[in-house]
Amino acid sequence: MSDLSVGSLDRPRITYEDRERLHGHGGALVWFTGLSGSGKSTIANAVDHTLYTQQRHSVILDGDVVRTGLCNDLGFSPNDRMENIRRIGEVGRLFAQTGTIALVAVIAPYGASRDAVRKAMRPGRFIEVHVDAPLSVCEARDPKGLYKKARAGIIKNFTGLDAPYEVPIEPELRLDTSVLSPDEAAAKVIAVLQSRELI
Ligand SMILES: Nc1ncnc2c1ncn2[C@@H]1O[C@H](COP(=O)(O)OP(=O)(O)OP(=O)(O)O)[C@@H](O)[C@H]1O
Ligand SMILES: [Mg+2]
Repeated sequence: MSDLSVGSLDRPRITYEDRERLHGHGGALVWFTGLSGSGKSTIANAVDHTLYTQQRHSVILDGDVVRTGLCNDLGFSPNDRMENIRRIGEVGRLFAQTGTIALVAVIAPYGASRDAVRKAMRPGRFIEVHVDAPLSVCEARDPKGLYKKARAGIIKNFTGLDAPYEVPIEPELRLDTSVLSPDEAAAKVIAVLQSRELI
């Protein structure tokens, strides 16, 4: 335990280790990246549920929610998407610092932006999960009707159609959700957290 009796206001008196001891597990940032409809939110929810039942501390940062609050000033231009990823990465990093497992379900189409978040994290604490399903499968699912609108020209700059998605080169995990069920996919994420001894 850090020395709680001494210290100045400008120096943290509580360490990462102290917070993780309090929670009984490590903090991390798990980033679910992939096309709309690939299953990011669905799998993040399944992981969150499993962690909760194991009495782990987790939080979901979902793109849809974040865009109504923290990032409600941002659109979908390349610069705004980069800023969206940067802000969410920063919030996720802060959660991870408190010993929480932050589950980010955000498309994050740019490799360089994802890598910048990785670099800001302590080694081993960034877990990039490529939620991967063929575009045709995502489009057939179309849970929010977004592909239909994009095909009709109502939505412009839609990732995978008229805006790029840069496929992660070396993600910790690639989950093909046209093959794996949400529960099978979630179990693989839990296994990575276990193999890193975070839980
Ligand atoms: N194996 C699977 N894994 C995840 N989702 C699946 C799977 N099979 C079918 N689905 C369905 O596909 C849809 C995925 O939608 P979801 O909202 O999770 O995608 P998303 O990646 O979060 O999209 P967006 O970027 O638009 O938020 C859901 O309706 C889900 O029930
Ligand atoms: Mg989602």
